[in-house]
Amino acid sequence: MKKDLQRKINDKTAAIGIIGLGYVGLPLAVEFASNRFKVIGIDVDKDKVNKLNKGENYIGDVSDDNLMQLVTSKKISATTDFSVLSDVDAAIICVPTPLNKLKDPDVSYILNVLKQLSKYVHKDMFISLESTTYPGTTRELILPALEKTSLRVGKDFYLCFSPERVDPGNEKYQIKNTPKVIGGITEKCTEIGKILYESIIDKVVPVSSPEAAETVKLLENTFRSINIGLANEVAIMCEKLGVDVWEVIDAAATKPFGFMKFTPGPGLGGHCIPIDPHYLSWKMKTLDYRARFIELAGEINTGMPVHVLDLISKGLNRFQKSINGSKILILGIAYKKDIDDVRESPALDVMTLLEQGGARVEYYDTYVPNIKWHGKDKNSQNALSSKILRSFDATVIITDHSNMDYDLVRSESRLIIDTRNVFSGIKDSKIIRLGNTQSY
Ligand SMILES: NC(=O)c1ccc[n+]([C@@H]2O[C@H](COP(=O)([O-])OP(=O)(O)OC[C@H]3O[C@@H](n4cnc5c(N)ncnc54)[C@H](O)[C@@H]3O)[C@@H](O)[C@H]2O)c1
Repeated sequence: MKKDLQRKINDKTAAIGIIGLGYVGLPLAVEFASNRFKVIGIDVDKDKVNKLNKGENYIGDVSDDNLMQLVTSKKISATTDFSVLSDVDAAIICVPTPLNKLKDPDVSYILNVLKQLSKYVHKDMFISLESTTYPGTTRELILPALEKTSLRVGKDFYLCFSPERVDPGNEKYQIKNTPKVIGGITEKCTEIGKILYESIIDKVVPVSSPEAAETVKLLENTFRSINIGLANEVAIMCEKLGVDVWEVIDAAATKPFGFMKFTPGPGLGGHCIPIDPHYLSWKMKTLDYRARFIELAGEINTGMPVHVLDLISKGLNRFQKSINGSKILILGIAYKKDIDDVRESPALDVMTLLEQGGARVEYYDTYVPNIKWHGKDKNSQNALSSKILRSFDATVIITDHSNMDYDLVRSESRLIIDTRNVFSGIKDSKIIRLGNTQSY
């Protein structure tokens, strides 16, 4: 039986079901379809399903032309109907795993998928969970739901965890050339998963269990969170020392070994780095262990928007102004450079703090034409003109998109708070740079 599934994967006649067609699921679906597999995407969001079926792209990392061509040639389609899972050979789960209000894992999306998947799991089916989650999810949550049937893992169906490592906007590393870690419940599960992923990815890295694979993902993002936390704390220390943190980091980064460059900023954003470490610390709490590095980095990183507010306040002070009553323009509200995702963006925290302090806040971001703000639509400024820049008391650079006219920003803004070192090395009394008191 297993041979049959293997053969179907090898000759690319295996039908692939991707559950959750967001930032992770859609590019993965496109990658399989581009490699001659027939792909069906399943999502509860009708809008995404309709768009995909019309060949309309909604994810930056996917090529419009490629998607249209794959839809036209019927290599890829989408549905809200989970019964199609009866006919797929491999199902890959890419649904959200956010935190709830208490910062505990919210696995409700996975549980909703399981309600459906357990109805349609069948003999010889391969299932992989790609959503980031706490160690133990695959074995403790997914496996029992699927084994409620008469089917047995490793014999009748195959179950793995394989973390997604997509880095939106990264032009060098995409799905194909980013090594993929995989850990199955049994050796056979890992073996099948390895063969499947190797048909679209250059290097697949098997580990001994789903728990190991789940922990790999959490280590990767915890590593980033902690090192960004360190860079942020060094920035604050450098402000007190009267040293330019950017100069220090750049010089340290010339060391060819034993140092890795991380930079400070206005806070963490996105669906991964601010969230994933909490999955690990939550799990550790259940084992009576306090993950201290994670907590400390979280404390420093979540404090950065307040620090930015302090810098804005210092800048306004120079003009005998206060946050209360000032008009502030935020440049870049996506959580990182050159992408359109605002999830967990520190810009939103800075905007909230400014508004709480009585400021009037607008933003400019060509990647994010509008956002929902206090339940209403809030639009980006149409353009970055002299008139607009001059009409604000301060311009705050939160995200340094490449398409911004920074010469115009510099010449026309009354005051600039630069949290990304856009104006590196420039001495100008109206520019305040995070991590560099020499500039203010
Ligand atoms: N975005 C990233 O850069 C990234 C990187 C690595 C890992 N991840 C992880 O991958 C997972 C997915 O993240 P994402 O950024 O793609 O999220 P997303 O919100 O962009 O997409 C998730 C999709 O799942 C759909 N969905 C929700 N419930 C569903 C259900 N019951 N059945 C079918 N579809 C359902 C949503 O409608 C949405 O289209 C998360 O666990 C995330 O932590 C994300």
